[in-house]
Amino acid sequence: MQRSSTSAASLHGLWSTRLAFILAATGSAVGLGNIWGFPYKAGANGGGAFVLIYLGCVLLIGLPILIAEITLGRKGRSSPITTMATIARRENRSPAWALVGAMGVLCGVLILSFYSVVAGWTLEYLQLAISGGLNGLNKERAVALLEGENGILASPTRQVIWHSVFMILTALIVGRGVKQGLESAVKLLMPMLAIMLVGMAIYSLTLPGAGEGLRFLFKPDFSELKTAGVLAAMGQAFFSLSLGMGAIMAYGAYLPRDVSIPKTAAIVAGFDTSVALLAGIAIFPIVYTYGLEPGSGPGLVFVTLPLAFAQSPIGQFLACVFFLLLFTAALTSALSLMEPATAWLVEKTKMDRFEIALGLGFVIWLIGIPSALAYNVLSGATLFDKPILDLVDGLTTNIMLPLGGLFIALFVGWKISKANLQNELHGFSARSYTVWLWLVRVVAPAAIVFIFLQEIGLLNFS
Ligand code: PHE
Repeated sequence: MQRSSTSAASLHGLWSTRLAFILAATGSAVGLGNIWGFPYKAGANGGGAFVLIYLGCVLLIGLPILIAEITLGRKGRSSPITTMATIARRENRSPAWALVGAMGVLCGVLILSFYSVVAGWTLEYLQLAISGGLNGLNKERAVALLEGENGILASPTRQVIWHSVFMILTALIVGRGVKQGLESAVKLLMPMLAIMLVGMAIYSLTLPGAGEGLRFLFKPDFSELKTAGVLAAMGQAFFSLSLGMGAIMAYGAYLPRDVSIPKTAAIVAGFDTSVALLAGIAIFPIVYTYGLEPGSGPGLVFVTLPLAFAQSPIGQFLACVFFLLLFTAALTSALSLMEPATAWLVEKTKMDRFEIALGLGFVIWLIGIPSALAYNVLSGATLFDKPILDLVDGLTTNIMLPLGGLFIALFVGWKISKANLQNELHGFSARSYTVWLWLVRVVAPAAIVFIFLQEIGLLNFS
């Protein structure tokens, strides 16, 4: 049992307990994707129908692939590239499977480059909350604060500064390694975020717009849903569960052998989905109470929540706590976005992890600069009417992650011998194992391909 852990243990370390893994994986999954991405994407794609497709994707595609990814990680015990290469070799498969790991490493770097910019907005709001700048906001000022002429997005300097702060913090923590860096950061903060969100959702339910907000979120109206919305819902499921790019594979590599993967995966997916839904329940009643636009885009959470805080006598305090937690949630996700590339470079170069993390952090920071300038200096540089940040988000979330997930599902479903698979997947009943196997073999890949084909217009069922 111990021997299989040696490579990961000696090079990168292992999680100390199952709980530590659950917290780290939940820390990876729960992030801006849940609280920033899910509500605004649901809002832009008509609400209930998007949410329903999203939930279907989590259950039929996301959870099975989550189990597959953790399984690969624990089998390979290395960075996603090395893990894929090792397992492919052991199973006598083509070495080209390592490319799935490589695409994942690249995808993590690209996601982090814009993720850090959005995380920078949370820092900017935190600073505003602390200095009292969010007190007494009304609707117009809340919108102008973010998107106005002198708003947060309009200032290239501030965008770049906060992006830099966030990247430095991320690199410093990743540089310290699995135990000291990642584990201690998530233990306290994830439960606090959950409590805060429950409180906000309860408050929102007391607002006059609660009924309309909930109807928007939970009543499917398929006439509002376009194929692009279906693709976005699938991409969002991948993004939110941190799937398809090796983050969870890398974390799975540090998972002790006796932990049951299926149960652990179900817990992580359950937490992640609950947090997204809670964020929706907190946000949409505010949208309808104040006559805001549910489809207004990436700024949604940054406009709605400060408005709600402004109504409360302890609003300043609440705003400080909330943005601190949102920032933390973003940070714990960022760590996992950077881990695959870091672990791979550690394996390849045998250089000091700390130096690697700083160097890599710098490269990701550079790649992120165009995203930091997307809504100001480079606001004219759009493609399909989308600013650069949205383009990188769309390419990675909607294309690269589902593609990575497709290959991971096919590899685990068809290319690993049954005995090897079952040996790793203890804790599954025979029935659930069979259901899972056919989900990764057929259902998930077919659904991904089907949604892709729909989107590029080769199939047209709508
Ligand atoms: N799941 C994270 C979020 O929802 C983002 C993420 C994506 C993290 C992919 C790792 C890998 O914010």
